[in-house]
Amino acid sequence: MPAQSPHTPHAEARPVLELDGLERHFASPGGLVRAADGVSLTVGKGEVVGLVGESGSGKSTVGRCAVRLDEPTGGTVRINGTDVTRLSRRALRPLRKDFHLVFQDPSSSLDPRMTVGQIIAEPLRLHAIAKGDAARARVAALLAKVGLRPEHADRHPHELSGGQRQRISIARALSVDPDLLVADEPTSALDVSVQASVLNLLADLQRDRGFGCLFITHDLAAVEFLADRIAVMYLGQIVEQAPTAELFADPKHPYT
Ligand SMILES: Nc1ncnc2c1ncn2[C@@H]1O[C@H](COP(=O)(O)OP(=O)(O)OP(=O)(O)O)[C@@H](O)[C@H]1O
Ligand SMILES: [Mg+2]
Repeated sequence: MPAQSPHTPHAEARPVLELDGLERHFASPGGLVRAADGVSLTVGKGEVVGLVGESGSGKSTVGRCAVRLDEPTGGTVRINGTDVTRLSRRALRPLRKDFHLVFQDPSSSLDPRMTVGQIIAEPLRLHAIAKGDAARARVAALLAKVGLRPEHADRHPHELSGGQRQRISIARALSVDPDLLVADEPTSALDVSVQASVLNLLADLQRDRGFGCLFITHDLAAVEFLADRIAVMYLGQIVEQAPTAELFADPKHPYT
């Protein structure tokens, strides 16, 4: 872990993500699973909020609901002040450029038939931001930003290492300059030796671009390094929320 901490000094008050009483209940043979059970959480512009908690506590469910990859059964999700909780897919489409999710396993989230260049350019094309030479130039700049070479644009995901694949999914997520990035265990599928470099990359890009980030992780060292504030989940609820230094110095909840 690098010695320099990236804690954003310029976190603004304007919220990019507001979860208010978020619920996601699943009907299962064993009864109702309350994966998210009244979660209220705000991520400000330029702020990194760490979401931690034991396995099954509901972190990924919250992350998926936050970017509308899952349908909340209750509560509200606001992005940049807009209530997106019950927007149709169609109504949501133009807003999609404002928020992105980076998954744990880059192999399953990158289309194996596409080249790296096509993968990174796809959001630019979908949102009609750039095409042709302009898109290629942006892809090259993004590749450089995430520490890859221009030639990587012509490769396919399977020709890259796990760390390189995760760099590609980060480049793709940031290609349209979103205000919010939800990163769900972005380094836990990677080799320990490359975890720190991907984490550093994320920290650098976050400082540089100033997006808000909901950073979901098991890794307490990672969350201490990246997050301005930490929320602790337990059984579908947030049981503690505090600035990073405060939480590490004086944890209140027994799980923490
Ligand atoms: N599609 C689903 N159908 C039924 N139950 C689900 C579904 N998705 C998640 N759950 C349940 O919701 C709870 C929370 O799951 P979730 O994946 O959000 O936890 P998590 O905190 O991300 O765990 P991990 O740290 O292991 O990734 C778990 O009990 C899980 O079994
Ligand atoms: Mg999870």
